[in-house]
Amino acid sequence: MPTDRRILARLRWRTAEPVDAIAVSRALDEWWEQRLNHCVQPQLFEHFGDTTLIVEDEGELVAFLVGWLSQRFPDAAYVHFMGVRADHRRLGLGLELYRRYAALARARGRTRIMAETGAFNARSIAFHRSIGFAIEPGDEVVDGVAVHHDHIGIGGDYVVLSIDLTDGPL
Ligand SMILES: CC(C)(COP(=O)(O)OP(=O)(O)OC[C@H]1O[C@@H](n2cnc3c(N)ncnc32)[C@H](O)[C@@H]1OP(=O)(O)O)[C@@H](O)C(=O)NCCC(=O)NCCS
Repeated sequence: MPTDRRILARLRWRTAEPVDAIAVSRALDEWWEQRLNHCVQPQLFEHFGDTTLIVEDEGELVAFLVGWLSQRFPDAAYVHFMGVRADHRRLGLGLELYRRYAALARARGRTRIMAETGAFNARSIAFHRSIGFAIEPGDEVVDGVAVHHDHIGIGGDYVVLSIDLTDGPL
């Protein structure tokens, strides 16, 4: 079996438990170029664990998606952050995380996914666009990308993305 297929075949997919906050927090330190630990709160895993996806390879975290169903927008499921460990990238795991999240969101009556990513994160913006996300209007267009300013100064400028689940590609 080719290496990529062998890796994919041994992955374990599940929803999250509160204890997963520890591994995800560590992953944010190691997998992102920018410090983002403020994004991980144990309460997210406690209260939104059933809409958070964890992927393990031989017991180690290799991919995850932290999301929840929006209360303000009853048609939307929201993705807070997601990532794939460097040695598991470009195997389709990012896309598969979104496919599974889209199925989960549809099953709960949601018709779109909203996501945010750092304005610095060109790779993430390219990834989201390539799987069908559109960039929502922001405060300013920088290098052709609509950016929201970090008005309260905790996380850096960011980009808001969305995808329609009724006839979109996911
Ligand atoms: C962005 C990220 C999640 C992509 O995960 P991935 O598993 O490598 O993505 P996939 O293999 O599913 O890629 C699907 C498509 O997205 C596009 N894509 C993925 N990575 C890309 C990159 N670095 N540059 C440009 N396009 C990219 C490609 O079109 C790809 O299809 P292809 O491999 O057939 O060309 C991963 O690079 C990552 O975890 N980065 C660090 C964390 C992060 O930025 N998270 C997102 C913000 S919260």
